[in-house]
Amino acid sequence: MVRPARPARRPHTPGGVLEGAYQRGGDPGNHFALDEFLAASRRRIDSSLDAVLPAATRPPAELHRAMRYAVFPGGKRLRPVLTLGAAVAAGADPERAMPVASAVELVHASSLVLDDLPAQDDNAVRRGQPAAHVAFDHSTAVLAGTALLAEAFAQCTRLSDSSAGAAVVARLTRTIGSRGMIGGQIDDLAFASADSSLDDIEFIHLRKTAALCSFSAWSGGVSSGLAGEQLGRLDAFGRAYGLAFQVVDDMLDEDLDKCSILHVLSRKQARGRVHELLDEAADEIEPFGPGGWVLAGLARRLGRLLP
Ligand code: IPE
Ligand code: IPE
Ligand code: MG
Ligand code: MG
Ligand code: MG
Repeated sequence: MVRPARPARRPHTPGGVLEGAYQRGGDPGNHFALDEFLAASRRRIDSSLDAVLPAATRPPAELHRAMRYAVFPGGKRLRPVLTLGAAVAAGADPERAMPVASAVELVHASSLVLDDLPAQDDNAVRRGQPAAHVAFDHSTAVLAGTALLAEAFAQCTRLSDSSAGAAVVARLTRTIGSRGMIGGQIDDLAFASADSSLDDIEFIHLRKTAALCSFSAWSGGVSSGLAGEQLGRLDAFGRAYGLAFQVVDDMLDEDLDKCSILHVLSRKQARGRVHELLDEAADEIEPFGPGGWVLAGLARRLGRLLP
């Protein structure tokens, strides 16, 4: 039997750059509040990433320029928003989670630089701009992607609670490594549609995409002092959300030369799978009560992106 989670603590009043945006979400159907939260979070995340990364003029300047190129102007900043949304669910000041929020975006940026390389997906364009290996050269892109990962670990050690920092570093290692994202990426490259089942494809998605989303939500909870069942719920939320996210990405990409759920499901079935996963995600968040509004809102919004 699932025990109900403790009700979320009263929201902390932040003095920081989130400007209290996260407190205005009481009504889960309030799109404006979520937009406001997302915009404030993105501004705050960008300023944190800007502070974390070495200046573009600092030698080796080409490397530092490439690292910044991979991070700015950036995309949706979804993974750090999951982290901050988890801190809100915990009733904590999201500012405490900012080191891990920055870390997850650095990992994400790194993964995209490497994913676009000719040796992987061979994408010349990322976010409407030349991919990093096109704007720079291949060796600079590989090294910039790797250096971004190293910076991500440095951020985790900045958590105010050092034992939480150690747990976060251990989990990030598993999330990214050969049992996680990188393992998923290599299986994605070796993917052969003819002999793959839905389980095979979801096992790839789970590692290449959902593992980092799950880490993002979980680490937001850890930095906010959560433990036990509530952490497990954030973890499970991120996993279901991340799986759904990759299915939606595959449906938008419509590229059947690569690993995609559309090899084994019709578009209608894939839509059904996304709704199933998002229902699971919503169930995990429900016990957080009104505090879960950011994460619940993100899940609903992903459902609306379905093509
Ligand atoms: C793209 O992720 C890679 C996938 C896991 C599908 P996003 O769609 O979150 O990328 P950006 O950061 O917003 O560009
Ligand atoms: C990317 O998946 C997953 C990681 C980078 C870990 P995709 O290859 O589907 O992402 P896009 O479509 O290039 O953004
Ligand atoms: Mg890929
Ligand atoms: Mg790709
Ligand atoms: Mg894709």
